[in-house]
Amino acid sequence: MPRTEPIKAVRGMRDLMPAERALWRTVERAAARVARSFGYQEMVTPILEHTDLIERVGTETDAVAKELYRFEDRGGRNLALRPEATAGIVRAYFEGHLNQGPQPARLFLIGPMFRYDRPQKGRYRQFFQFDIEAIGADSPAVDAEIIELAATWLREVGLRDVALELNTIGDHKCRPAYLDLLREYYRPLKDKLHGDCQRRLETSPLRLLDCKVPQCQPFKPKAPRITDHLCDECAAAWVLVRRVLDAAGIEYRLNPYLVRGLDYYTRTVFEFYPGGASGQQDALVAGGRYDGLAEAEGWRSTPGVGFAGGLDRVTEVVAASGAEVIPEPPAEVVVLADPGLEVEAAEVARLCRAARTVAVDYEPKSLRAKMRSANKLGARWVVLLGESEAQHHVAQLKDMASGAQVEVPWKQLAESLA
Ligand code: HAM
Repeated sequence: MPRTEPIKAVRGMRDLMPAERALWRTVERAAARVARSFGYQEMVTPILEHTDLIERVGTETDAVAKELYRFEDRGGRNLALRPEATAGIVRAYFEGHLNQGPQPARLFLIGPMFRYDRPQKGRYRQFFQFDIEAIGADSPAVDAEIIELAATWLREVGLRDVALELNTIGDHKCRPAYLDLLREYYRPLKDKLHGDCQRRLETSPLRLLDCKVPQCQPFKPKAPRITDHLCDECAAAWVLVRRVLDAAGIEYRLNPYLVRGLDYYTRTVFEFYPGGASGQQDALVAGGRYDGLAEAEGWRSTPGVGFAGGLDRVTEVVAASGAEVIPEPPAEVVVLADPGLEVEAAEVARLCRAARTVAVDYEPKSLRAKMRSANKLGARWVVLLGESEAQHHVAQLKDMASGAQVEVPWKQLAESLA
C-alpha cells in the first residue's frame, strides 16, 4: 500500500488544544457572567443560514461580497456559513416571537463565524465571537449600555490598556443628503483614489472614510463630516450616548472616519482596540446600531444595537499581556490499579468522582511508569489499588506533593479527598 500523506486541518481553521482552552474558558465565562449581569440572556442560532438572509446585511460588505462561504445543499438550497451573528439573531428574534415580549430583547451568543479571508495572526477563516444584541431598543442609552458591557468584559479579562473609538453615521433621514455631499467632494478626486475607492464612490461612499490605502489618505481631512450634518434626532441621540458614557467614566476617542465594514449600521458605531493599535484588523470588539436591518430582512422595522468581540483576538492579547491563567489539571486524582483490576479501578474512580476529577490509568505499564505519567498530568493524588486492597475494599491514597500515603476504605475515599 502506498503511504498517504496525513490529512491536515483546513487552511485558516485552528484546533484549540486543551492547554489553550483554559484561557478561552476564562474569557468566555467572563463574557457570559458580564452579559448576564447586564440582563442579557444566552441564545444559539444555526451556523448555516440562507445566503439570501446574509446578503441582506449588505452586498457591499466584504464579509458578504468577498468572504462568504456559500454552497448548495443536497436539496438545492443556497446556504452560507454565517460570517457574523447579528443577521441570524434578528431573524430568530422574530421567528421565535421575542418581538412580542418585553422590549428590548437583550441577547448574547458565543460561537464560531466563518469568513474566507486571507489568514494571518488575529484573522482566521473560522473564528469565534461573543455577540451582544439589544433588539427593540430605541433609547441611545442602550448604545452606551452595551459599550459599558464590552468595556467591563475587557477589564474583567485583565485588559486595562484598550482604546475605544466612537462615531455616529446618521440615519435614513440625514445620511442620504450627507452621502451626496461626500460624493460631490470625492468625484473630482476620483482618479487619485485607489481602485476599490473609485468603485465605492458611487455605491457606498462612507467606506472611503475608513480606507487605509496611503494614496487615499490626503483627501480625508477636508471631506465633509457627518457630525456636521445630523438630523435633530440623530444629534440628540449622539449627545445622550456620550452623556451616559461620560457619567460612567468610560473614555473614548471621537473618530469621524470610523464607519464600520458592514452596511447595516445607523447612528452609533464603535470599536475597541488593544492599546497602541488602530485600524479595523486589530479591533477586539466592534459594533453599533442597526435600525434598518430588521426591515432589510423583511420584518417589521425594529431598532437594534449590538457588538461582537473577537475571542481569538481577545485571548491572544490577554495571553500576550502575560495574564496568568492557572491551567486546570486534566484530573486531580489518578487511579492506578494492578492488571486484572479494571472493574474495581472503575468503581473506585466512580466513588472518588463525588469529590474530585478522576482519571484511571488502564495502560499495561509498570507502576513506576504510571506514577510518572500521573505526575506529568499534574494529579494531586493517586489512588493505588492492588489485589489484596481490592479484596478488602480499601485503597492507598497518596498525596503527590507530600508523598504521604494512607490506607482508606473505598467508601471513605470521597470524604478523604474533599
Ligand atoms: P465585525 O467588525 O465584522 O462586526 O466583527 C467583530 C469582531 O469580530 C472584530 O472586531 C474581530 O475582533 C472579530 N473578527 C472579525 N473577523 C475576524 C476574523 N477573520 N478572525 C478573527 N476575528 C475576527 C460584526 O461581526 C458585527 N456583527 C458586530 C455587531 C453585532 N454589530 C451589531 N451587532
